[in-house]
Amino acid sequence: MKKYNVCIVGGGSTYTPGFLKSFVRLQNEFPMEKLVLFDIDAERQQPIGEFGKILFSERFPELDFSYTTDPAEAYKDMDFIFMQMRAGGLPMRREDEHISLHLGRIGQETCGAGGMAYGLRSCVDMIESIHQIRQYSPNAWILNYSNPAAIVAEALRREFPDDNRILNICDQPENIMRSVSRLLNVSWEDLDPVYFGLNHYGWFTHVYDRKTGEDLLPEIKKIIKEKGFLPQDAEQRDQSWLDTYGFVQTMMEDFPDFLPNTYDGYYLYPDYKFSHLNPDYTRADEVIDGREKRVFAECREVIARGELGDRFDTISDAHAEMMIKVAEAIAYNKNTRFIVIVKNEGAIANMQDDAMVELVCELGINGPRRMAVGNIPQFYLGLLVQQVSSEKLLVDAYYEHSYQKALEAFTLNRLINDAKKAREILDAMIEVNKGMWPELK
Ligand code: NAD
Ligand code: G6P
Ligand code: MN
Repeated sequence: MKKYNVCIVGGGSTYTPGFLKSFVRLQNEFPMEKLVLFDIDAERQQPIGEFGKILFSERFPELDFSYTTDPAEAYKDMDFIFMQMRAGGLPMRREDEHISLHLGRIGQETCGAGGMAYGLRSCVDMIESIHQIRQYSPNAWILNYSNPAAIVAEALRREFPDDNRILNICDQPENIMRSVSRLLNVSWEDLDPVYFGLNHYGWFTHVYDRKTGEDLLPEIKKIIKEKGFLPQDAEQRDQSWLDTYGFVQTMMEDFPDFLPNTYDGYYLYPDYKFSHLNPDYTRADEVIDGREKRVFAECREVIARGELGDRFDTISDAHAEMMIKVAEAIAYNKNTRFIVIVKNEGAIANMQDDAMVELVCELGINGPRRMAVGNIPQFYLGLLVQQVSSEKLLVDAYYEHSYQKALEAFTLNRLINDAKKAREILDAMIEVNKGMWPELK
């Protein structure tokens, strides 16, 4: 059995320890020869790398594991590259969210003004990084989930038009299916959804029982109406995430056709969402005070002990597990279904062919094969065409260094929706993103 060489770009990410544990747990399903962590921030990556050394020496000793800040060392002879960089880091996420909210619009990691500010930073860093990767590993599969995935996917489509080994993925559709499985008390792997949309902006039109073929959506609607909605891992979630999932009930009261992605709430109820966000303490602050501290503390504890200890387990998180399963589907040509981001090419019949959309695809060695959904209803089409236009204009702004295109992108985004406001927020974002954005003229 072939063993794979894998690199994680963004080795210092808060998601990395979850990956390392999942690689241990899935070492038979997805056998690896070599694993390298790469980050531009040596100090941030070091504790995670040292934690990894202890973890693998105890649980997966034959793995060749290392961590580095040298691209040549990281990218050479790779089969799979998982990308999880955060351009500008959590401090810039905080700026994105705070600035938008202080100027009267939703500040969110990937949606609205915050997402667009992050998007321009990610275009710069992701494109540079993938050019570097391709010098050393021209044929490696690049599995990207660095955000904002919608904008990154559009930029990568333009920058690398003939490269069909770059795949952009988000975990949220699968998180929602796992959450639905908790409601139904079934295994999430038995759910076979049909889905359409953009990244962080989509709907499930059917949720079939994989064994019987029955569409469970009517039952799901009934349960959500009566009991509300919770994430599968509710016990590990902060209140803000519980509220985000809970809001699915409200969305389904007003728009009962389909089961929405949790992110749709921002676009459908911007006033309500805005009024419930605190401009001085956003999700970025919560992550900095919560997940980030917890993850690094766990690594430091293990390092101080010099061993994993009795209480340590490798129960993997859903996020890492999904990404590894994606790699497995490609490696073994399994043609398993995942919801991923692909060029539309007629799959949503009434949307433009070159939109980067999120759809169910069968995934194997030749990449994703889209499952078409036909025409989508006018309401959803209207929302998505507006958003895809905003995303495309933002990527135009990146390529053309165009202030005008950025202004159009910001104006057209449903979470800004006003030219004067768009200009005000854009100007503030230009100020704080100096050196991280292309210079807009
Ligand atoms: P984080 O800030 O904790 O980690 C990101 C790491 O990337 C940092 O260690 C940073 O130094 C590093 N980095 C930044 N620029 C880099 C570059 N050019 N090259 C290499 N490394 C670089 O962030 P996090 O909260 O752990 O999230 C990591 C990323 O994963 C974010 O982009 C986040 O949005 C994304 N994410 C996406 C999904 C999805 O559904 N698509 C799900 C979870 C996380
Ligand atoms: C989900 C989304 C990701 C996003 C993350 C943010 O997993 O799919 O795209 O980055 O949530 O979570 P956080 O806990 O950092 O707010
Ligand atoms: Mn996502």
